[in-house]
Parts: sequence; structure tokens; C-alpha cells
Amino acid sequence: SANTMWGGRFAAGPDAIMEAINASIGFDQRMAAQDIEGSRAHAAMLAATGIITDNDAAAIREGLLTVLSEIESGNFAFSTALEDIHMNVEARLKEVIGEPAGRLHTGRSRNDQVATDFKLWVRDQYDAAIAGIEALMKAFVAQAEVGADWVMPGFTHLQTAQPVTWGHHMMAYVEMLGRDLSRFRDARARMNEAPLGAAALAGTSFPIDREMTAAALGFDRPAANSLDAVADRDFALEFLSCASICAMHLSRFAEELVIWSSAQFRFVVLSDRFSTGSSIMPQKKNPDAAELIRAKIGRIMGAMVGLFTVMKGLPLTYSKDMQEDKEQVFDAADSLMLALAAMEGMVKDMEANVDALETAAASGFSTATDLADWLVRALNMPFRDAHHVTGSLVAMAENKGCDLPDLTLDDMQTVHAQITADVFDVLGVKNSVASRMSYGGTAPTRVREQVARWKEVLS
Ligand code: ARG
Repeated sequence: SANTMWGGRFAAGPDAIMEAINASIGFDQRMAAQDIEGSRAHAAMLAATGIITDNDAAAIREGLLTVLSEIESGNFAFSTALEDIHMNVEARLKEVIGEPAGRLHTGRSRNDQVATDFKLWVRDQYDAAIAGIEALMKAFVAQAEVGADWVMPGFTHLQTAQPVTWGHHMMAYVEMLGRDLSRFRDARARMNEAPLGAAALAGTSFPIDREMTAAALGFDRPAANSLDAVADRDFALEFLSCASICAMHLSRFAEELVIWSSAQFRFVVLSDRFSTGSSIMPQKKNPDAAELIRAKIGRIMGAMVGLFTVMKGLPLTYSKDMQEDKEQVFDAADSLMLALAAMEGMVKDMEANVDALETAAASGFSTATDLADWLVRALNMPFRDAHHVTGSLVAMAENKGCDLPDLTLDDMQTVHAQITADVFDVLGVKNSVASRMSYGGTAPTRVREQVARWKEVLS
């Protein structure tokens, strides 16, 4: 039989396959609370403007709470024939309160309704992401504070480059996450305009009060163009873009944890709480959480590309294509929140192997740049020449199978006669990092300043 919500002109009901491809109730039931919140605000506004009676609005608002509690307690029979959460809720409302339920949809369409529901849902995810990022930042700052002067190798090309401090490395992630935070906040401020009252696409002839519903739902203002309001999914695309960049940052640290926790590096020990064993190899302790965080970018960025592809080329305004917006956003949001929480746990629990870090920092000729800088300062050599002389000294050490500080002064003077014993002062890793006092540099003093700054920002 024909649909009771829109079937007036239809003689026959839909094919089963049509019902299957058309229905979104399997996933959009996740927006039940938002749908009911939006409808309650709409009903209150319809009464305040005299479009429906106070009695009808009260019955609708009360009845919607009954429906919400049925859904929340799992006592709700979702129907595929009723397509989506909007019609499932309204149909049940009719069963609960009778005739007034039919007045709820006055001056409204499912087009502005779904845009409103989805915006409310995504807005909560912006807030959750912001909270999750802040918590993770605090964990990184705490690591930086304890290890502000632990020395470790800094890498370029994953080759030992120059010694850096553990705190500096941790604070690099605080900077990245700080940008993520500001991206999510910017986008949240931009998206906070209410589609409700745009109706199907053109607005409505009823004297609705869009300021009132916008305020009731925590929006800053109503969206100014009804066509745009029902056609816009930028708020979801921006969420996915912010989430993708954030997930990319998480994947980089996850990769470092995988490398650092290996037997070949031994830079960190991950806690048992965030590791797993092997069913065949008894010695194994695998960094599974880090690997899964490293992988989450795949589905999060996949969702972003997926929704961009759905939206591109859609003519204004609403098209049913847009029903394909939700599942990928739901999945991406779940994945991001889980990745943030897991990363926070791992960062809090991880223990740096301070000796292994320092040993690694001192190997691989990591203070060659310090040596070249010394030649510039002490002997007034042009840097390019100093670079060349230092390269010869590195080659000499490599031939002897030793590190730079193990060369004797005599060895060094065969390469350049004016080198003096003072040079040995700059070859130690502690001196190396302490000397990098330029703003943003790795010196423990500078790291502690950044730790203090971020603790202030995050407090
Ligand atoms: N389930 C639909 C969606 O998610 C709701 C909007 C339907 N609007 C319409 N005109 N068919 O997009």
C-alpha cells in the first residue's frame, strides 16, 4: 500500500528493492536525539507564533519525549517502510498522541529537518574532537616536561641528523595538535547556523520565527539563504577535512612508536595496557594500538574523499544523493575519537628508555654540524669550507670505526692543523642540544618555555 506520509498520489507501494535502497533508518537512527530536539524546538516556535495551538504544541513536545525514551531504552520498532528517522519518529508520535502529531510538520520539510539533525550531530563531534585533542595535548606536554633535557637523535630521511631533546620532539606534536584544535574550532564557529525553517528549499509562507528555533538549538543564527541551507554539507566536509589532517598527525606519531618500540631502536617501552602478544611467538609484545591508529587515516580520509565525491556536481538544492552523507561521517567520527583516546593512553603510559636515547643520539656522527659550527666560530672559516673539513673528519672516524669524539687531537690536526682541544667541548650531545638556544630550538631552556606556554593555554 502507498506511504502514509507522502503516498497521496501513489496507487502502489514501493518494490522491496526500492525500499532497501531508499531507507536510511538503518543508520540515521543514530540522530534520533537530534531529530527530537529539533522537532521540539520547532513545535514550541509554531505555538509561539500562533501557527498551532499551545495545547497541540504541548502534546507534541511531551509525546516526543515519550518517543525518545522508547528509543533510548531500546523499546522502539524501527520500520524500513518509514524510510528514515524523521518519519519513524513522527509516525510513532501519531500513535502516542494522535491528531496533533500531524501538525508538527507545518512550515518544515525533511530537507531542512535532516540538515538540522545532521548539523547538530556533527556539531557534537566537533566538540568531542576538541576535547579529545586537548586531552592528548596534555599527555604530550607531560612527557615533554619530564624529559625536557633527555637527549635523543633527531632524524631527517630517518637518518641520524642532529641531537634533539625528548621534550622538543614531544612538543612538536603539541604544535601539530594545536593547529588541529584551532581548525576544528574555526570550522565549528563557521558551521553554527541553523537550516531549520528553510523548509523544502524556498522558505515558507507561515510566519515562522527562525531566530527562535536557532537560539533554542544553540545555533548562532539562522542560515541566511534557504536554498543554501538545505543543499549545504560543508559542515560535514570540513569536519572530515579537519579529522583527516588530525588523523594524519596521529599516524605519524603512531609510526614513530612502532619504530621506537622495536628491538632495534628500544627508544620506548609501551605499556602492557596498549600492547598485545603473539599466539605463537612467546617473546612478542606488539604495538597493535599504534598500528591501528596509523591505519585509521585510511577510513577517515576515505570518508572525506567519499563525501566530496557525493557532493561534487550536485545541482541545487537537496538531492537524495545527500542521504549518502551520514554513514561515512559517523564512521570517521567514531574512528577519530577512538584513535585520539588510544593515543592519549599510549602517550601517558609510554616510558622512554633514556639511556638508549642518549646512546643513539651520540652515534651516527650526530654532532658533525656542531663541529663545523665550531670551525666557523673558532677559526673564522667560511661555513662551506668548515662543512668540507668536517666531512673529512667524519670519513676518518668512519674508517677507524669510531665516533667523532673518539678521534684524537693529532688525528684531527692531520685534516686541519689549527684545530685545538677546545673542539671536544662541542662534540658531546648534551652540549650540542644546550647550544641550540635559537627561538624554537631544541635547547632544554627553550623546551621548558614552550611547556609553560602550552600548560597555560591548555589550563
Ligand atoms: N533520509 C533523508 C536523508 O537522509 C531525509 C531527507 C529526505 N528528503 C526528501 N526530500 N526525500 O537525506
